[in-house]
Amino acid sequence: MALPEHEVHLWRVDLNGLGQDEALWQHVLSPDEAERALRFHFAVDRRRYAISRGVLRTILGSYLTSRPAGIGFSYSKREKPSLSPPHSDSGITFNVSHSGEVTLLAFTRKRDIGVDVEQIGRKSDLEAIARRFFSAHEQEQFFALPAAERGEAFFRCWTRKEAYIKATGDGLSLALSQFDVSIAPGHRDALLATRPDASETARWSMREVSAGAGYVGALCVGGRDWRLRDWTGG
Ligand SMILES: CC(C)(COP(=O)(O)OP(=O)(O)OC[C@H]1O[C@@H](n2cnc3c(N)ncnc32)[C@H](O)[C@@H]1OP(=O)(O)O)[C@@H](O)C(=O)NCCC(=O)NCCS
Repeated sequence: MALPEHEVHLWRVDLNGLGQDEALWQHVLSPDEAERALRFHFAVDRRRYAISRGVLRTILGSYLTSRPAGIGFSYSKREKPSLSPPHSDSGITFNVSHSGEVTLLAFTRKRDIGVDVEQIGRKSDLEAIARRFFSAHEQEQFFALPAAERGEAFFRCWTRKEAYIKATGDGLSLALSQFDVSIAPGHRDALLATRPDASETARWSMREVSAGAGYVGALCVGGRDWRLRDWTGG
């Protein structure tokens, strides 16, 4: 499978659709991943991890024309995974997100990338979380909405914020109030402002992506000269 430089590929895994057989995927995991899978307290988490990692390796193996189990990962100090040598020479970058029964996987070359998915309705106290974590601009948009529209809007905002902090690799060490995203549905240019460096905004493209009924997804990619190939079926 080809992954040209100016493309971003988005894949969606429906864990229900893949059945219960996590053993199918176990054989492509590395020994440390197999060990990590065993440490999950709940079987549902173990299954999700094994299948998602198995699918990640299988897709990467196809781009790299390499054996999935032989692919090595490196981790940044904030735990963002990337390909380790010799596969890092391919320039392929990727990011993964899980929520409920869905895993989204995004791939590109020579660009930072972050993806996030959330199952709508999986958090309670949305207003309190918004007050604590959304920027002033986002709160203004959010609280101006009628209460009935706030549920989906919350998850749109949250996935966009997470996609950005995953693309930069900072994770939650980056203050979520330091940038503004749009909370409007279907937005194709959803990163609105960054602080203290306002020029950072233009370095990224952020958009909503399809994640399936009952889910919201967002993608954030370095640069603007790329096109999305969406294999999610959405
Ligand atoms: C990245 C982060 C925001 C994701 O949280 P989340 O919404 O609960 O989880 P998601 O399902 O969307 O994403 C999880 C995936 O993101 C990837 N990931 C992990 N850390 C990441 C980071 N810093 N940046 C980007 N992606 C990251 C992994 O592939 C992970 O999947 P895996 O556990 O199956 O390998 C959160 O885990 C975080 O802030 N991590 C940083 C932790 C850190 O700073 N550690 C250093 C300790 S000194």
